[in-house]
Amino acid sequence: MKATPSVLFVCLGNICRSPLAEAAFRKAAAEAGLEAIADSAGTADYHVGSPPDPRSIVIAARYGVDILEYQGRQIAAADYTLFTHIFALDSANLADIRRHAPGDTTAEIALLLDVVDGREGQPVLDPYYGDQEDFEATWADVSAAAEALVARLLSDGT
Ligand code: 4NP
Repeated sequence: MKATPSVLFVCLGNICRSPLAEAAFRKAAAEAGLEAIADSAGTADYHVGSPPDPRSIVIAARYGVDILEYQGRQIAAADYTLFTHIFALDSANLADIRRHAPGDTTAEIALLLDVVDGREGQPVLDPYYGDQEDFEATWADVSAAAEALVARLLSDGT
């Protein structure tokens, strides 16, 4: 039997996009009956210990996920072996994650939208300087990715 998948979503600050990616994945996994571990982190330490951006909290709540208790943290060396998958929200995050990867890394590291047919190579755009509508677009992106990822994990376990 395959190990329980454990998925880490990583953006820059861990207050806007990656908490929403984690929330969308938790929701999609629960709805599909997939057992999985999920977490999120930032490449930067700007918001360590902080709750998500209020606009992310509003969007997640609108789609039925409570993320009030999420706390910002920075990706750490141990994450590269603790998690089976590490997904970057954009290509700058991906480059940072790869640059800091320890030699014993076992996690598969990829761009999040690579899991969505036709959206390979695309970023989940940073909504931090945007408005609530930009956070809606973020939710649409991360939930498309979450559903595709859950389907993939259910079908072949990778
Ligand atoms: P995130 O958005 O990477 O989606 O969490 C940002 C949050 C904070 C900052 C930049 C992006 N910041 O510069 O503080």
